[in-house]
Amino acid sequence: MMKAIYFEHTGDAAEVLIYGDRDLPELAAGEVLVNLKASAVNPSDVKKRAGFQAPGFVDGFVIPHSDGAGVIEAVGADVSTERIGERVWVYQAQFQRHWGTAAQQIVLPSERAARLPEQASFEQGACAGIPMMTAHRCVNLDGGVKGQNVLITGASGRVGYYAVQLAKLAGAKVIGTAGSVERIKSIEEAGADLLLNYREDNIVDAVMDFTDGAGVDRIVDVEFGMNVQDSAQMLKVNGVITTYSSSKRPEPAIPFYPLMFKNIAVRTVLVYNMPEPAKQQAVNDINHALENKRLKHRIAQTYPLEQTAKAHQVIEQGGLDGCVVVKI
Ligand SMILES: NC(=O)c1ccc[n+]([C@@H]2O[C@H](COP(=O)([O-])OP(=O)(O)OC[C@H]3O[C@@H](n4cnc5c(N)ncnc54)[C@H](OP(=O)(O)O)[C@@H]3O)[C@@H](O)[C@H]2O)c1
Repeated sequence: MMKAIYFEHTGDAAEVLIYGDRDLPELAAGEVLVNLKASAVNPSDVKKRAGFQAPGFVDGFVIPHSDGAGVIEAVGADVSTERIGERVWVYQAQFQRHWGTAAQQIVLPSERAARLPEQASFEQGACAGIPMMTAHRCVNLDGGVKGQNVLITGASGRVGYYAVQLAKLAGAKVIGTAGSVERIKSIEEAGADLLLNYREDNIVDAVMDFTDGAGVDRIVDVEFGMNVQDSAQMLKVNGVITTYSSSKRPEPAIPFYPLMFKNIAVRTVLVYNMPEPAKQQAVNDINHALENKRLKHRIAQTYPLEQTAKAHQVIEQGGLDGCVVVKI
């Protein structure tokens, strides 16, 4: 028996999230039992709890949150006992399963518990799953961005902030956008070569000027529907849009011919379903960056487990500078 946050019906955080006792499943072959220290809240956790997305289970309860970090307490058959005591960051914990990381413990497949380098805290490790892995995929698919011009919209967001840093580490020239002067100031440290205000600047003109008229090779986009008209103008021939969200315009009008005449590819990304080799590559590259302290992190707010509902509410309100972590 352990303390956990769970819900049995979808709805408002304050109404449906319960703090109480829950059992863990038996540790099976290939699995590890992790004593959790931190659990991160991401928009998809909040949307699943609110009922906007299929929660990935058919009946019963859900312990929310995909991402977390902790220490391996025990291992099932087929997992090396050398993993016992290892610091880990866990990802995809509550994807099509009942058990997420808003709990004192979790049992999950060994490969979903990646080694957490000693240079990173548990709170930082809890931001690796969705924000860093999504950013890694968007930056690195189709051969990566070395030597390329890359535009990262919403560089002020949890994913965007890591995308800027991972694109710089991969050798790109990076342009980032954010929605205010304050938000731009707050992300200067991420290292973009140019930062623009998407509410006030003429993004197309500024990007074309900055790239001497060439345009960008890739756009990592947080609001596909809002930006696709501009994207078609700013991308080079054979450019790529990698997009992980279109929440403000979920069914956008597509400028088909401007995209087609430039042979532009639109790659949608869902971090949960990205190919397993891409997940492994992301884990390796993220851990290399963590070990060498090459990434900056922003923990915007922390809450105790009992106050997980508040953590959901602040994610729903938006506008935060960074990750929201529940400490366990
Ligand atoms: N597909 C996936 O696998 C995946 C993975 C992670 C997240 N997501 C989704 O991606 C979205 C963002 O997640 P997050 O955790 O990064 O959220 P976040 O931290 O709240 O960031 C959202 C960002 O979007 C920016 N933004 C809003 N409208 C924009 C526009 N028209 N042009 C450019 N930027 C704009 C905001 O900029 P300002 O605040 O500066 O105005 C902010 O930086 C959510 O919908 C989430 O569910 C999807």
